[in-house]
Amino acid sequence: MNQSHVHPLKLGVIGDPIAHSKSPIMHQAALRETGIAGEYKALRVTPDQLAHQIAALREEGYRGINVTIPHKENVMRELDELSEEARRIGAVNTIINEGGRLIGRNTDGIGYVRSLKEEAAAKLEGRRIVVLGAGGAARGIIYALAAEAPERITLLNRTTERAEALAQEWKDLADIEALPSHRAAEAIQHADIVINTTSVGMHPYVDEVPLDPALLRGSEIVSDLIYNPLETRLLRQARERGCRTHGGLGMFVYQGAYAFEYWTGVPAPVEAMRAAVLQDMNGSPEIKS
Ligand code: ATR
Repeated sequence: MNQSHVHPLKLGVIGDPIAHSKSPIMHQAALRETGIAGEYKALRVTPDQLAHQIAALREEGYRGINVTIPHKENVMRELDELSEEARRIGAVNTIINEGGRLIGRNTDGIGYVRSLKEEAAAKLEGRRIVVLGAGGAARGIIYALAAEAPERITLLNRTTERAEALAQEWKDLADIEALPSHRAAEAIQHADIVINTTSVGMHPYVDEVPLDPALLRGSEIVSDLIYNPLETRLLRQARERGCRTHGGLGMFVYQGAYAFEYWTGVPAPVEAMRAAVLQDMNGSPEIKS
C-alpha cells in the first residue's frame, strides 16, 4: 500500500545515545526514493523516559519506531503484542503501530540472513555454520539462521556455558551444538560459513580478532556483523587466505529494509538506502542503528 495519499508517515528511532544514528539518513532516502510522504526522526530517550515516550509516540500517531541500545529488551513490556521471533529472541528493534496497537518485531536476524544470502551465500540449506559469540546479537542471528535449514550450527563462545544454554534453549529449531573455544580448530575444519557476532575487532580495537585466522582453510565464507570498520581484521585476513567475506553493513541496511516494508507495505529501495549510509559514512564512519 502506498501511503503517500494519506497523512505523512511519522517514523523514528529511539535510543541513547542516538546522535550518530544512520537510521534517519537511510529511511529518509527510502521515503524519497519511493515517493512516500513522511518523516523519520532520531529521538533521544533515556531509560527513565521509555514508558512515557512510547505512550507519547502512540498518541502522536507514529506508524513506526526503531529501537536501539539500551531499549531493545525493556521496550517489550510497553507493547501490546510481540511477534513470535521477537518473543523468542527476547528483543525488539522495530515497532509497528496498527491503529493504536503497538506490535514489536525483530528484524535484526532476518535482516542479517537476507544480507548474507544476497551478498555472499545464496543457499544456507545443508550448510555447516559456526557462530562466534552467544550474546544478544548472536540470538537474533541464530534464530533466523535456524529457519534456513542448515545442517548444523556450532556455537563457539568465550564463556562455554552461555553457548550451551542457548543451544539447549533452541534445540527444537535446528541441530545446534556448543563447543568450548579451545575446540575452535575442530569446528572450523567442518565449517562452510563462519560468523562473528562478538564485538571483538570493532573500532577502536581494530587489531583484535575473535578467531585465529590460521584456522581458516580458504574455502569458508567468513562474515562479521561489525561494520565499523567496514572490513575488520578478521575479514581482511580471511580474504587474504582466499575466503569469501561478508561485512556488517548489509545487516544494518536490511534490518531497516524489513522495518520499512512492515511500515509502508512497499518494497524497500535497498540500494538507495545502502548508498545513503555509505555516502554519510565518508564523512563519519560511525554507525549506530
Ligand atoms: P551483544 O548484544 O553485542 O551480543 P553481549 O550480549 O554482551 O552483546 O554479548 C557479547 C558477546 O561477545 C558474548 O558472546 C561475549 O562472550 P562472553 O559470553 O564470554 O562474554 C563476546 N565477547 C565480548 N568480548 C569478547 C572478548 N574480548 N573475547 C571473546 N569474546 C568476547
